[in-house]
Amino acid sequence: DKIVLAYSGGLDTSVILKWLKETYDAEIIAFTADIGQKEELDGLEEKALATGASKVYIDDLREEFARDFIYPMFQAGALYEGQYLLGTSIARPLIAKRMVDIARAEGAIAIAHGATGKGNDQVRFELGAAALAPDIGVIAPWRIEAFREQFPGRAEMIAYAEQHGIPVTASAAKPYSTDRNLLHISFESGMLEDPWYDASAEADRGMYVLSVSPEEAPDEAEYVELTFEAGECTAVNGERMSPLAVMDTLNELGGKHGIGRVDMVENRFVGMKSRGVYETPGGTILFTAHRKMESLTMDREVMYLRDSLIARYSATVYNGFWFAPERLAMQALVAESQKNVTGIVRLRLYKGNVIGAGVQSPVSLYNPDIATMEADPSQAYDQGDATGFIRLNALRLKVSAGVEQSRDGK
Ligand code: ARG
Ligand code: SIN
Repeated sequence: DKIVLAYSGGLDTSVILKWLKETYDAEIIAFTADIGQKEELDGLEEKALATGASKVYIDDLREEFARDFIYPMFQAGALYEGQYLLGTSIARPLIAKRMVDIARAEGAIAIAHGATGKGNDQVRFELGAAALAPDIGVIAPWRIEAFREQFPGRAEMIAYAEQHGIPVTASAAKPYSTDRNLLHISFESGMLEDPWYDASAEADRGMYVLSVSPEEAPDEAEYVELTFEAGECTAVNGERMSPLAVMDTLNELGGKHGIGRVDMVENRFVGMKSRGVYETPGGTILFTAHRKMESLTMDREVMYLRDSLIARYSATVYNGFWFAPERLAMQALVAESQKNVTGIVRLRLYKGNVIGAGVQSPVSLYNPDIATMEADPSQAYDQGDATGFIRLNALRLKVSAGVEQSRDGK
């Protein structure tokens, strides 16, 4: 029998690889999606083989991740609970998709993952798999009592790894958990479990990976121009580039200027609150630029309709329903809303801030002739019309105020 394991090379999935092999007497196929976790991929194939994998897939999914996952999500204006740009959430359905494809191609009986039974990731992997391959088996060792009894803590896992000749890397020694990809890196658990713990202080500057702290950012601001075509960023500083190259370029720029750090307590789908720290440098620039592009080009009612879906769309992605019909339906509306989101946004990056510095579009809805405080050369707007406009809108307010007054006997 074969099992496809979502493998990161970290302590947990290394131990799980070996444990699955022994427990199920199965061939373990290790699968790692390259979605931009950079150095974490170094030596991964050798490591998986040394740990006992019969075959290793390390698939470069970076362009697909940027183009088919990050970009559509940004068009929706997604922001979970007003702060989180969904960096981990959006990666899980892509990993699930590729894992299911490999399982089919290999004739595997099940897929397996190292997400805990208390988190969101288990839900996202498994809902993704369910939507794409309803009959695939899933093994989640952290939800199996025997596994939890064998590994009550990290000490037991490290001992098991040493015993089985599994190389334990430096990251196993870090007191917090991270998840890195093209869009972000997340930090959770360890000292971060105390919400009063100040992760922005000097002492923790060494934790951050993608950005400098605003204090350490350059004293000189830097301009950047993003070109949009129908809601997609297609060029940075006038240079055309693919979605992947856009993300890489913006991450570099944002990281240099200390942009995109978020420290929050969020609601996990499974019911608990959890504290997370995120670095999303490029995503934060893209998010701001996209919104500014829309401000010039998007019809008001279309914007309000799309915006009314932001909380819903964000929770749908966060909760693992990327491949669900409601996400596809919302995406269709979002796509329609983006047709004219075209033009150039200029921003100034300075010590953690993304500052608007100009916007232009060939399909701008902004008309200075109409908006001007000076005499209106277009004659499109007659100020006298506003009198009736206000009077009719005031009608129900006056009626209701009158009722209040007579009830209170005034
Ligand atoms: N709390 C974030 C989310 O649910 C980040 C999760 C990080 N996952 C991880 N395996 N370290 O999207
Ligand atoms: C985990 O529990 O495996 C990581 C955190 C999460 O999935 O929310």
